[in-house]
Amino acid sequence: MSTESPLILVVRPANAPTQVTGDLRKTTAENLTERRWFERLGQLNTPIQRWRLDDLPAGVELFIKRDDMTGSTLSGNKVRKLEFLMADAIDRGCGAVITCGGVQSNHCRATAVAARQLGLDIHLMLRSDVQDWLPIANGVPDWSAKNPSEVGCEGNLLQDRLMGANVYLVQRTEWYEEKLLPRMKRLAQRIKETSGKDSFLIPVGGSNLAGLFGYITAFQELMEQVSRTGKLYLIPVGGSNLAGLFGYITAFQELMEQVCRTGKSYLIPVGGSNLAGLFGYITAFQELMEQVCRTGKLYLIPVGGSNLAGLFGYITAFQELMEQGVLDRFDDLVLTVGSGGTTCGLCVANYLTGSKIKIHAVAICDDAAYFHRHINATLQEIGLTDVRSEDIVDIIEGYKGRGYALSTKKELEFVANIAQTSGIILDPVYTGKATMGLLNELRTNQSRFHGNRILFLHTGGIFGLYDGRMTSILKDGMRHVTDRVHDWWNPDDDPPFP
Ligand SMILES: Cc1ncc(COP(=O)(O)O)c(C=O)c1O
Repeated sequence: MSTESPLILVVRPANAPTQVTGDLRKTTAENLTERRWFERLGQLNTPIQRWRLDDLPAGVELFIKRDDMTGSTLSGNKVRKLEFLMADAIDRGCGAVITCGGVQSNHCRATAVAARQLGLDIHLMLRSDVQDWLPIANGVPDWSAKNPSEVGCEGNLLQDRLMGANVYLVQRTEWYEEKLLPRMKRLAQRIKETSGKDSFLIPVGGSNLAGLFGYITAFQELMEQVSRTGKLYLIPVGGSNLAGLFGYITAFQELMEQVCRTGKSYLIPVGGSNLAGLFGYITAFQELMEQVCRTGKLYLIPVGGSNLAGLFGYITAFQELMEQGVLDRFDDLVLTVGSGGTTCGLCVANYLTGSKIKIHAVAICDDAAYFHRHINATLQEIGLTDVRSEDIVDIIEGYKGRGYALSTKKELEFVANIAQTSGIILDPVYTGKATMGLLNELRTNQSRFHGNRILFLHTGGIFGLYDGRMTSILKDGMRHVTDRVHDWWNPDDDPPFP
């Protein structure tokens, strides 16, 4: 690589990368036409709307980005990750998908719907409490009367079951790495033996990283070089299948068309690129992949392991935010952090674009130290060694309440109040707690925010609201507003409205 050459990128497609051996061995034109790296599942772009909430501090302007509207049944933030994850599953020839989560997991529900849409079998390992599905006599579970179906058909489970998902009830306390992952592997083996199908394993929340590594290090490298010197660089694609991706900062499409047609090397001027511009070419990446897959003349850039794939969902979401003018219109972006993938994708993109927006993630489980550790590990893994999680995200603690997926009466009343006063439905596990956190911090600790123009990312999850937990709040707790059902059977009666 020369730093002295004029503004030039050279792509040498003849040298295929070596590290993606399993996939590359199959790169015949026929196979290439079937290759997938991305599967459109979501209804994107999602809108940004003004959020008219009562009692906002003076001067604060609050908006909401509706990622709860990425679809109806297949909704919420998980869709963005699944677009990459499921494509990877198909690309690897898997006929079944195995994943895990809580008994009301949004991630599992979305994965079940996505799998069925794509014709794949679906297996869900759901963490539950024994009393969810076993009769308990004097505090002791009666195993002789066990009936797993008793776990119910409410909320996300309703959809899981409608999708015909194979559900395995596991103990709530089983940690992913130690317990669930080995069991998922055993299940995959069993599925292979009985049906001959390979399984694609998706980690909890769809959020780990493994394969992204190269793409982001290449990105980082290129961007650092371009922004420091303003010069162009030689990027041999053969040396790194990833670097090629980031060579398409300008004239990306033309390059790929030329390369696909001839298989030769091309000179590409980089002039005019900046960090923000790169994100314009994450969509160009999509075009690249399609072109590459169609022509069969070039090497393939696989989406990588499931971990990387998930992260990409929210790196591209950031691009969408940029297209929506978010970087000019807002000072702060607030969201929920659960397993960390959504936050990490947004923070990486925010950092790499040099954007000044401040990202706050409200923790609904674990604590700030845990999430910083997780994000720092990811940053290391993807080669971003010059930045720390603590510098790029403000993790807001104090709003997980009784714990993950557990609600207090106050929290449920809050969700109902927000619906009544603003028409936005929040979910009890993630966005409800996060919004509570946002409003409380605005009232008590406003200096934590960069400015007054705040965008909340609604990440979906509302099926969790339909698991029966709201009943007592609606029927009793807030009867005065939520129980407005009247008897006016007799047409001659006066209207019963109070
Ligand atoms: C509705 C909703 N919001 C936010 C999150 C948190 O996203 P992440 O797990 O990427 O941190 C989840 C994760 O399950 C979710 O279902």
